[in-house]
Amino acid sequence: GKPGNLTIVIFGADGDLASRKLFPSIFQLDRWGHMPEHFRVIGVGRRDLTHGVFRDFVRDRLLEHSPEAAGDDEQLKAFCDLFFYVNVDLRKPEAYQELREKIMEDETSSNLLFYLSIPPSLAPPVVRNLAEAGLGGREPNVPGWRKLVAEKPYGHDLESAHELNRVIDEAFDESQVYRIDHYLGKEPVQNIMVFRFSNGIFEPLWNRQYIAQVQITIAEDFGIRDRGGYYEEAGLLRDIIQNHGLQLLAAIAMEPPVDLSADGIRDEKSKILRSIRHFSPDTISDTAVVGQYEGYHSEKGVAPDSRVETFAAVKFHIDNWRWSGVPFYMKAGKNLAKHVTEIIITFKCPPQNYYGASAAACSTPNQVVLGIQPDETVAIRFGTKRPGEQMVTDPVFMKFDYRETFPGEQLTPYHRLLLDAIEGNQMNFIRKDSVETSWQIIDSLRDSLDGITPERYPPHSWGPDASHLYG
Ligand code: BG6
Repeated sequence: GKPGNLTIVIFGADGDLASRKLFPSIFQLDRWGHMPEHFRVIGVGRRDLTHGVFRDFVRDRLLEHSPEAAGDDEQLKAFCDLFFYVNVDLRKPEAYQELREKIMEDETSSNLLFYLSIPPSLAPPVVRNLAEAGLGGREPNVPGWRKLVAEKPYGHDLESAHELNRVIDEAFDESQVYRIDHYLGKEPVQNIMVFRFSNGIFEPLWNRQYIAQVQITIAEDFGIRDRGGYYEEAGLLRDIIQNHGLQLLAAIAMEPPVDLSADGIRDEKSKILRSIRHFSPDTISDTAVVGQYEGYHSEKGVAPDSRVETFAAVKFHIDNWRWSGVPFYMKAGKNLAKHVTEIIITFKCPPQNYYGASAAACSTPNQVVLGIQPDETVAIRFGTKRPGEQMVTDPVFMKFDYRETFPGEQLTPYHRLLLDAIEGNQMNFIRKDSVETSWQIIDSLRDSLDGITPERYPPHSWGPDASHLYG
């Protein structure tokens, strides 16, 4: 439940994520009465700012990113007065003393939530230095609780993720660690489990006997924006597939959990990720296609001969009892024709085809289409008789739309996940074993693709042709 007091310490408080997501979310949660009675936010950054200048910065960012902030100046000022700033050279252990003093100065505020929104190379020193300053979660006899919320990326391969986990593990118990994948805060993603496990009509068919294939698409119709430096280090496989893509796949494919506890669910996610077949150079041309949009080379911060991928189509196999032989196709990319995230589950055809054009074809395979964004929908596709004399089928859809049915809902992923972290619900956060298992999969994919140059594709297309993956 909601704690009585709270101090949020944001590392990277002058960064983009804090401005666009964290400040507005905290502001709105406060407006809606979800924040603890007594809370404050301590921003940590490298710039030397006074509390006053930082408050002005927070106010300006709120006015820019949160329409609700305009209008009531008094209220906005009262909110910004809950913000403080400490200048810390993050790599220097001694620099954390001032932060410690600032935290301790308010004795009534004993619950500490450390939020890391910093480059991955800084995460290990920050966590180590926190612990050294006596601010870690393993400190004995402290009043209140301590939690660590960490933004992706968690390392850039298995080895670095493992090292980061090790450092975190020394300073915090896993029950205090909240690794964010903001896709898990999206309503239609949270609905995947509810859809599967609260209805009697889908789950009996949700297996290799009845499902022919699953397609997961995460397409964006814009490029890397101004994140050239980051993208050169990451690439799409690390940026999107390792986290968002595999989490969607896990939600679709996991077994029913023993209960709805965080670990009940995360145990099943962990199992399904462990069942994903690793990639090998021998079969890579049949299992993955990578691409790069034309013009990527002229983005700021990108090397002129860069071979970093901005598109991938991947065929995953899940080697377990339920899914053996069912391909899971995933397609994700930057600068594609449309901004859409959706999952299409295609069912096998009925054993006799009375109505199709040719005897062999199944003209209208049944599908369940889960729209994640921009449409938040569940649609079921089935064949129906085309009006007229002939007995032929046409595919039609039955559709549920979140926004139409629940128009009042205001929460966004960051609202949900922040609240979950504050209230202590780890269900929608990534556990350390799954981070590492996901990296194992991506490492094997990247190793197998070594030496393969991404195919160029024109912006606003559907990327390089990957149809050969689809059998
Ligand atoms: C981020 C990636 O994790 O997710 C970005 O780093 C991507 O490259 C973004 O654009 C997509 O998030 P959303 O919620 O806009 O689909």
